[in-house]
Amino acid sequence: MDFSSTVEATPLMQTDVDLTPYNTLAVTARAAYFCEVDSEQGLVNVLKWWKEQQKQLGMDLPIMPLGGGSNIVLAKDFPGLVIHVSITGRDLVEEDDHWLWVKVGAGENWHQWVEYCMGFHYWGLENLALIPGTVGAAPIQNIGAYGVELCNYFAELRAVEINSGVAVTFDSDACKFGYRDSVFKQQMRDKYIITSVTFKLRQEPSLCYDYPALQSHFRDLGIDSPTPHQVFDAVCQVRASKLPDPADIPNVGSFFKNPVVSDEQHKQLKRQCDALVSYPVAGGHKLAAGWLIDQAGWKGYREDEVGVHDQQALVLINRKGSGEQILSLAQKIQSDVQERYGVELEIEPRVYSS
Ligand code: EPU
Repeated sequence: MDFSSTVEATPLMQTDVDLTPYNTLAVTARAAYFCEVDSEQGLVNVLKWWKEQQKQLGMDLPIMPLGGGSNIVLAKDFPGLVIHVSITGRDLVEEDDHWLWVKVGAGENWHQWVEYCMGFHYWGLENLALIPGTVGAAPIQNIGAYGVELCNYFAELRAVEINSGVAVTFDSDACKFGYRDSVFKQQMRDKYIITSVTFKLRQEPSLCYDYPALQSHFRDLGIDSPTPHQVFDAVCQVRASKLPDPADIPNVGSFFKNPVVSDEQHKQLKRQCDALVSYPVAGGHKLAAGWLIDQAGWKGYREDEVGVHDQQALVLINRKGSGEQILSLAQKIQSDVQERYGVELEIEPRVYSS
C-alpha cells in the first residue's frame, strides 16, 4: 500500500487540495495532503499519526500549518501535509482590579476577536482592528498598527511541537517579540503549531492615538479625547481608506518591513531627498518603505495580473496572478529601491518557493 491510499483511507485527510481559498493573496497552489484540526488534542493525534505513517513508509514529507493564510506567499505546490488550524473558543481565565486574562483559540478570526473585546469592554486591542488573519498567526509576526503591537497585550501561548507532538507554553520572553518578528520566524521557524493565545487586557482603557493618521482623523472630527470605540472606529476608517480588503483585492498587507538604517545613511538620504519619511529608533532611523516605493514611482503599477496598490505602495495586489509573479514584482521593487536609495527592503510575509 502506498502513502496516498493510506491517507485516503483516513477520513480526516484530503488529498490534492486547492489552497486558493486558504490564502488571502488568492494564488493557486495545491497541497498534496490537507487536514483540518479543531482542538489541541486533535492536532497532537494528527501529528503522531502522520509521523507513524511516514516512518513506516520511509518518507519525510513536510508539514505546513495554515491559519487565515494572510501572511504567506505560496509560489509553488506543497508536497506535504497542510494543517488548517480551526481551533475556536474565548475563555476568561483570570481577572484582577486592573487586568483580564483571556485564552483564545488559534483559529478565531482576529478582527472578530477585537470586536468581541470592544463589546465586553476588554481594552487594549482597539488599534489592531481590521487586521486580516487568525489569532494563532498574530504572534508569529507580532502584528502591529497605529502605535500598538500584539506583544503589548500578550500573556502566553500554547503550541505543539511538530516533531514530537508535545504541547508547550511560551511566555512573552520565550516568544522573543520584535518588530514584525518573533522566535517563530527565527529559531523556532516551522517547528511549532500555535493552538491558543492568552491575552492580558485592561479593565480601564489606556488609549493610544498619537499616530499621525489618527490625530488628523480626530482633528477633522473636532474630537479631543476619544473613547475606545471612537479609536476603534477611527482605525477601521483609516485602514479601510488605505489598505485593500483581501476579500475584494487579494493581498497580504504590507509586503515589506520598514527598514532601519544607520544615522549616517539617514543623514545622507535626507540630503538626497528632504521629504524622506523616517523616525528615530534604537540603532538608527526607521524609514517608511511605502514612501520609498511610492517615490520610486511604483504606486498603482500593474504588470500582467499583479501590481502595487494605488493607495498604499507597501501593498502588492494579485488579480489572478501566481505567487511567482508576485515575487518577481517584489524583486524588481527591491532592486530599484536598492539602486536609488541604497536601502535593502526585506519581504515581510512568509514565502514558500523553490
Ligand atoms: N507613504 C507614502 N506612500 C505610500 C505609503 C506610505 O508616502 O504609498 C507614507 C505615508 O504618507 C506616511 C508613511 O509613509 O507618511 C507611513 O505610512 P503608513 O502610516 O501608511 O504606515 P506604513 O509604515 O506604510 C505600517 C505597517 C502597517 C500598519 C501601519 C499603521 C509595516 C510594514 N506596516 O505601514 O501594517 O497598518 O503602519 O500602523 O510596519 C502590515 O503589517 O501588514 C500592515 C498593514
